[in-house]
Amino acid sequence: MIVFRNHPCEVINHLNGDRYTLESVADIDPSQIQVERITSICNEPAVFSMLFSEMFPEGRYPESAAREFLNWVTDGWQQGTHFVFATLDSDGLVVSTCDIKSDNIEEAEIGYLCSSAHSGVMTNSVKAMTGLGIKAGFENFFALVRVDNIASQRVLERVGFHRDEEFPQGSNRFRYMATRKSIL
Ligand SMILES: CC(C)(COP(=O)(O)OP(=O)(O)OC[C@H]1O[C@@H](n2cnc3c(N)ncnc32)[C@H](O)[C@@H]1OP(=O)(O)O)[C@@H](O)C(=O)NCCC(=O)NCCS
Repeated sequence: MIVFRNHPCEVINHLNGDRYTLESVADIDPSQIQVERITSICNEPAVFSMLFSEMFPEGRYPESAAREFLNWVTDGWQQGTHFVFATLDSDGLVVSTCDIKSDNIEEAEIGYLCSSAHSGVMTNSVKAMTGLGIKAGFENFFALVRVDNIASQRVLERVGFHRDEEFPQGSNRFRYMATRKSIL
């Protein structure tokens, strides 16, 4: 069983110095206000267009999807199969999420998203999450990122990921990889 320790932990917004908390989403009260906050972030143009436009061709991330997301998150923590964290502002509201998508400690995929209103917090949140993951026993991480998603590629590079040059060209995604050593 993979055990994450030392959270919640503090995350600083690199751009303005504001303080946030990185917490397991399973430990957050799934109140209506949090559901609305998650829905609202997922409907921000940069997030919706990168992550949800194919899933929701009608053009809107529905509140029901945020509720399903929270159920999926709870299952992941209970069964030890995937691990989703949220970065919370000083009011305890979600501003971004990041996740380790499997329990494959040899090589686990990560993902993340952030409200543009809190730009500056994502890299440090992913650094904190992968640091906790390494302490929990993960050896390597990878991320699949759209070729046109420059902001996300920059996050990965700041955290210590590098592009896998052997990943098939012609795909519309790059594969980025990080090892325990490249992150810490
Ligand atoms: C990808 C995404 C999370 C990036 O958000 P972001 O606000 O650009 O990311 P950060 O908070 O890490 O960085 C913002 C700025 O702060 C600065 N910064 C943040 N942390 C920093 C650090 N530790 N060191 C130096 N600079 C830092 C950088 O200047 C950065 O801007 P730049 O990349 O233009 O130079 C956001 O665009 C998003 O949610 N997109 C949609 C979802 C998505 O694409 N997810 C990833 C799928 S693979």
